[in-house]
Amino acid sequence: MQTDIKLVRNENYDPKELNLHETLFCNANGYIGIRGTLEEGVPKDFPTMRGQYLAGAYETIPMKQAESLCNLVEEKQTMLNICDTQTICLTVCKEEFMPAAGGVIDSERILDMECGYTERVTHWKSASGKEIKVRIRRMAHFGMKELFTIEYEVEALNFSGEAVFDSIHDAEVANFSDPDDPRLADASPCYLKVAEQGFSGSASYSVSRAENSGVKIAAVTEHVLDPSSGSGCMMREENGRLITRLRVPVRQNEKITVIKYAAFSDSIREKDPKAKAMSVLKEAKNRPIEELYDEQKKYLSKFFERSLMTIEGDNELEDAVRFNMYEMLCAAPHDDRSGIAAKGLSGEGYEGHFFWDTEMYVVPFFLLTEPSLAKNILSFRYATLPEARENAALLGHKKGALYPWRTITGRECSGYFPSGSAAYHINGAIAYAVIQYYLTTYDEDFLLEKGLEILIETARLWLDTGVYDRQGRFCIHEVTGPDEYTCMVNNNYYTNASAKHNLSFAASLFEKFRNDERAVRLADRISVTDDEIGKMKKAAEHMYLPYDSDYGINPQDDSFLEKPVWDLAATPKEKFPLLLHYHPLHLYRYQVCKQADTVLAHFLFPSLETKETMEKSFRYYEKITTHDSSLSTCVFSMTASMLGLKDEALSYFGDSAKLDLMNRHENTKDGVHTANMGGCYMAIVNGFAGLRITEDGLSIDPYVPEGLKSYSFPFSYRGRNLRLTVEKDTAVLELIEGEALEFSAGGKKVELGKEKQWKWKL
Ligand code: BGC
Repeated sequence: MQTDIKLVRNENYDPKELNLHETLFCNANGYIGIRGTLEEGVPKDFPTMRGQYLAGAYETIPMKQAESLCNLVEEKQTMLNICDTQTICLTVCKEEFMPAAGGVIDSERILDMECGYTERVTHWKSASGKEIKVRIRRMAHFGMKELFTIEYEVEALNFSGEAVFDSIHDAEVANFSDPDDPRLADASPCYLKVAEQGFSGSASYSVSRAENSGVKIAAVTEHVLDPSSGSGCMMREENGRLITRLRVPVRQNEKITVIKYAAFSDSIREKDPKAKAMSVLKEAKNRPIEELYDEQKKYLSKFFERSLMTIEGDNELEDAVRFNMYEMLCAAPHDDRSGIAAKGLSGEGYEGHFFWDTEMYVVPFFLLTEPSLAKNILSFRYATLPEARENAALLGHKKGALYPWRTITGRECSGYFPSGSAAYHINGAIAYAVIQYYLTTYDEDFLLEKGLEILIETARLWLDTGVYDRQGRFCIHEVTGPDEYTCMVNNNYYTNASAKHNLSFAASLFEKFRNDERAVRLADRISVTDDEIGKMKKAAEHMYLPYDSDYGINPQDDSFLEKPVWDLAATPKEKFPLLLHYHPLHLYRYQVCKQADTVLAHFLFPSLETKETMEKSFRYYEKITTHDSSLSTCVFSMTASMLGLKDEALSYFGDSAKLDLMNRHENTKDGVHTANMGGCYMAIVNGFAGLRITEDGLSIDPYVPEGLKSYSFPFSYRGRNLRLTVEKDTAVLELIEGEALEFSAGGKKVELGKEKQWKWKL
């Protein structure tokens, strides 16, 4: 599929912009993530987060609590910045190529999403007047997940002489830290200790080990030179770094190319990571790089065939949405050994932890485009059910599983439980994603082998947490909802609504499949009884969903409306985000929301309230929400669409699609905002297009927002491939592949099958 999607930026080597570009031009493939740092490095005082990461690779570090209350979390996992194999220092005729220090005539960065690589093209002049053109192409290969390549091409423009490449393999690296920002690590020791390193033939290798977790990382590199004749290669170890020096004669107007192949592996996935990395390197090196590029392009062509969105009327928006899709793919794990971190694999923000973001915001994209990736993500949650059970037990529960608020291995990493472990709604998000996965794919094998167990164990936790009040309402106390400016409350509306959904589906799906032998075995193994299923149904039915008749809205929780309203209009601009300027306790005493909470519940569970109540709620919360979290405006947009508030939907959608491209939160340098990227997709697909998948099947109720002409996107649904195209007056659903289906078009049930297209007036 021809797509020609590119992100192109001038590279001014401006220290204020460089670390933003490191994020935007990161290369990742779901396993490795390599920030777009400069091969040659930067002058000393330039800010940079030079990082390479492997999905799920971590160190365990102590997290000392000042007061050791019972069962507080005292250690956490942190992502590892692994061995640096990016460095290539170039000198031409003894002059060092260091464009960040000057001499740039012009330079451009390109992320080519059709081809799956990044490029930096720099025209540079040395102090003595020698001009060269350097084109560096980098790729994290989607097919060979362990492989990262740098193709480094130099053209001498006005001289002939010698180029020397010092290509470095440095296993002694430290993580990034910023003690002033709670969203980053506060210390940056070297977590990985080199266990062995050296040269084997013309390859360099290192195996390093994280001391506490025992996780081992292997990295290997090797070079191919073109033309190879007349050049020399020398390898040496210096200050712990493995250096391969390539000396090459250059002639005016001729190009020389060095290809650096690097392969990585880890002991979480492989018994012998070094052998694995070596074998990947060998395989890659024996194939022409063009063949690897070709494969990459084919992979992406397939991905875009299933996902590419077209938006007429706003090219910038279209580009931004496509960039977001690409970034989500780069973050998606290819096995069940990791989830999706808040920043994907593009930076160290939030220390590489996975939150509820994945299931609530990113899974919906994969469900409709690449369900196998959604399955990987949910399989990771299945694989970490034992840790979730332990977590529940630590918090005093007798039954059930509580997923950690933030984690890499499945163990809780949150040191501040009021806006961490108390966010029980993560269970609701994971259950919601399992249910949506089933409803979208009808994959009974996954449901019966993994999903149902997740649903039952999460539902059990609600049963164990909740209590019936004197009026017989099922209440959930002392939890924190999505809005982290309000913590430890009773009956958070969002949490209760998602618990109701979780309980009711755990019971109904168990009953639906109760005679299947896999469900029988499960019931036996984890002792599910009729009595327990009955309790789940009863709790769901009697779940308390707070409603305030004076305001005609759903209060965020029992005490929310009793608190004074924070005066947002009087809060100086520089005091946002509030979390960086006010003590949490202070924030908790006001009606002020960091992000969508009740408004998200309305979008997910619209049948629980009347349209009037939801609209009043929406109006109420919009006045007191700061959107300090990037997970917020997209939700306001989709809920507005659902309520028919088209102007609001558009204005909340606003620039959120471009949040990272425009660095709107001023912290994209720490990594992209993956959840917001998924949220933007949802704001279009579930918001503007009104696409929903429930027990009743597929329904679509679309409109085109002001300012756009039309939009169109493919999606998959229960084994079929479809495409929806929405114009101002008409919508068309096209069945590209698969069996006939019934769906609801703007509220009317119709059949798509005999006719391969259904067109309706809007
Ligand atoms: C949000 C959470 C989110 C986390 C990671 C926080 O700012 O409040 O909802 O899970 O960021 O993205």
